[in-house]
Amino acid sequence: MVELKTRAEIELMRSAGKVVADILSSVRSAARAGVTLRQLDETARGVLKDAGATSPFLNYKPKFAPVPYPGVICVSVNDAALHGIPDEYALKPGDLLSVDAGATLNGWVGDAAVSFTVGDGSEADARLISVTEAALAAGIAAAVPGGRLGDISAAIGKVGRAGGYGISTDLGGHGVGRTMHEDPHIPNLGKKGRGLKLQPGLVLAIEPWFMAGGNDDIYVADDGWTIKTGDGSRAAHAEHTVAITEDGPVILTLG
Ligand code: MF3
Ligand code: CO
Repeated sequence: MVELKTRAEIELMRSAGKVVADILSSVRSAARAGVTLRQLDETARGVLKDAGATSPFLNYKPKFAPVPYPGVICVSVNDAALHGIPDEYALKPGDLLSVDAGATLNGWVGDAAVSFTVGDGSEADARLISVTEAALAAGIAAAVPGGRLGDISAAIGKVGRAGGYGISTDLGGHGVGRTMHEDPHIPNLGKKGRGLKLQPGLVLAIEPWFMAGGNDDIYVADDGWTIKTGDGSRAAHAEHTVAITEDGPVILTLG
């Protein structure tokens, strides 16, 4: 069931979204060579605590997962695309990181992700990141009343395919509100004019993620969580929580 949010509820979600933005900027500043993924998770925990917020990721256990999620952020390095568990891995110069964070504040959830390299990255990584960000912008631009869910999917997929990248429809965007994952599911490929009619009050986490090798295959690592590219190429991910309003899309996960 798709739930619509009132203007007041959307403002509460903006407060949760600001905490998410603060986590992402703190983690980004902390992500230098030699720092471990677990240290980045600690940084994120500190931001949540200071804000009086909790994590919708911590102990989350969807059906596919063998164990509850142990962190408050996902940190996916290089050929890890999504759901990387913060562990003792120490960052190296040139690593490509995707950081996904959530926050629950006053009962409302924000969810966003960003990708960047540690120090100077390769040109290929810079292009992958910028195309992923462009796809997010295109998806957000399509999130307007009167449009269809397929418009968002199609806008994202078009940018990713034009970049020559692999796209999996197994995991994509989603409704978000009092819980992190609500209806509808938003695949990162689709057809314009199809699917749910978009209307004011719909709040969506829009999240393109692309694989550099151009192959659409993925697999789940032995930890049961980390989604990796089937061809070993690198992946990037970008996400915002976005409210559809009469005035158009409003990004809720800004600092
Ligand atoms: N933000 C991710 C998403 O959009 C959720 C991470 S899964 C978790 O699907 F287990 F880490 F929470
Ligand atoms: Co999400």
